[in-house]
Amino acid sequence: MEDVEDVDKTYALGFDVYGTLVDPLALAEPLRALVGEQAVRFAELWRSKQLEYSFRRGLMRRYADFDVCTRQALRYTQQALRCELPESDQGRLLEAYLYLPLFPEVAASLAALKTQGHRLAAFTNGVETSIRALLANAGVLPQLEDVISVDDLRTFKPDPAVYAHLARRTGRAPGETWLVSSNAWDVIGAKAAGLRAVWVRRQPDAVFDPWDVEPDVVVSRLDELPAWFASQSG
Ligand code: LAC
Repeated sequence: MEDVEDVDKTYALGFDVYGTLVDPLALAEPLRALVGEQAVRFAELWRSKQLEYSFRRGLMRRYADFDVCTRQALRYTQQALRCELPESDQGRLLEAYLYLPLFPEVAASLAALKTQGHRLAAFTNGVETSIRALLANAGVLPQLEDVISVDDLRTFKPDPAVYAHLARRTGRAPGETWLVSSNAWDVIGAKAAGLRAVWVRRQPDAVFDPWDVEPDVVVSRLDELPAWFASQSG
């Protein structure tokens, strides 16, 4: 009997960074010393304004990079919550963005996926130099073949051009290129552009936008992915 043909079942995997590999809401911890019981609300509003600023800039075609969005969202959040921080504290919070903690299972999961032969890249709205520093500080930069940033195109996810850029940079067809993201809007953007997508539902109560677009796979943590991809090659 002939051997089963060795079909290449490895993929290009583009990992969203903020919220998927590292946790921006961990900033609630240092914020507690600065804004007390508003800390969680502050961290959440800061994150959601940062995203809104990037989306709006994409629509307006007035690109200013994600670090600018983060900085301006920090200013907005202080004004909205009426807790102005001294410049030195603002500087420390922005610096802390380069030291966000990894979710606990990330390092081992990336290592396992890499061992399976998949090609891993960070795929982010963030600025490449900032993301390289962040991932180096977190210790996972060596696991990634590439850091693919929207900065090359001067627009933001979920612009379809950005997902096409991911596929182009990895040299794979869109249908063999996967986005891995905890952000539902990111998963919907990737699916709309013809990519495949994993939704990482980190919170059991996270809601996937009811847009009649579904992720290909839903996991609650990245360490479920190696077994899932292995099951696809059988
Ligand atoms: C990222 C943010 C937007 O692209 O989550 O990493």
